[in-house]
Amino acid sequence: MSAARPHIALRAGASGPALPHRAAAEIPVIAHRGASEDVPEHTLAAYEAALLQGADGVECDVRLTADMQLVCVHDRRVNRTSDGSGVVSTLELAQLRQLDFGSWKQPASDEEFAEYPDLRREGAHRVLTLERLLELVTGHPNRVEMAIETKHPTRYAGLVEEHLVALLDRFGLAHPRLGERSPVRVMSFSAMSVRRIRRLAPSLDTVLLLDRVPLRLRDGSLPRGVRIAGPGIHILRIHPEYVERVHSMGNRVHVWTVDQPSDIDLCVELGVDAIISNRPKAVLARLGRDGTAPPATARHGVIELNPDSP
Ligand code: G3P
Ligand code: CA
Repeated sequence: MSAARPHIALRAGASGPALPHRAAAEIPVIAHRGASEDVPEHTLAAYEAALLQGADGVECDVRLTADMQLVCVHDRRVNRTSDGSGVVSTLELAQLRQLDFGSWKQPASDEEFAEYPDLRREGAHRVLTLERLLELVTGHPNRVEMAIETKHPTRYAGLVEEHLVALLDRFGLAHPRLGERSPVRVMSFSAMSVRRIRRLAPSLDTVLLLDRVPLRLRDGSLPRGVRIAGPGIHILRIHPEYVERVHSMGNRVHVWTVDQPSDIDLCVELGVDAIISNRPKAVLARLGRDGTAPPATARHGVIELNPDSP
């Protein structure tokens, strides 16, 4: 780890007390698109692998199909990650189900994927619906966090958030009661999308993703009602002080996409509140966890909030 950086004095935040620095073993590790370095991204097998590796949570991108089904696909088109072509929002779920989302990332040998769920079994490499992912996550014996990213722009605009909140509601995850926290949070680069989620599900955590930090947010503040900043690791490499600024405002920091050892060390040094990585197993190992021990705060289902917890 590099030499300690000069610390900015913590001050009480605009929206509450400043947050303390988080210890390495307490930083939740979130599998980005599943264990996507090892297994094709956004497949059921990628998420099963992430949970087997001991990830504390999973990240996924969601898009609406032409028949209004939420599916986990990153790109606007299916060309990169399937054997088909076309724009997700113009295809129906039945059409997407014909495609193979696994074969673009073939293992060099049968042994390479040996420790992971069998990609060739029925359904494991087909398009993943958010509903199926929610079933996987809510059926897991541990509490699994979910960071769901709405992708914009899209022709369906606000329908994405409406369908998302309705689906989360079916799973009892959209409206945690006062003093409880849903394992789900919704993230977006679109401030408009985050606002829509806050209107539809005011008690759900939201994350504003940041490719760059706009001038008005450089003091660590966030738009009204948003309590988590989601900077890319490239921002923290250049502006490590941003984490302390966000904390000083009583807000949290979830960082993407943290795969390199030096970046993991930087996140530990800065005391971020979640690490989002394509390599959850490697991150857990670097944090000194063996992949089986969840952080002290992790429990199943909706958790009751300690009044002192952030
Ligand atoms: O977790 C946030 C991160 O996923 C944002 O970037 O392009 O990978 O969706 P992207
Ligand atoms: Ca994403």
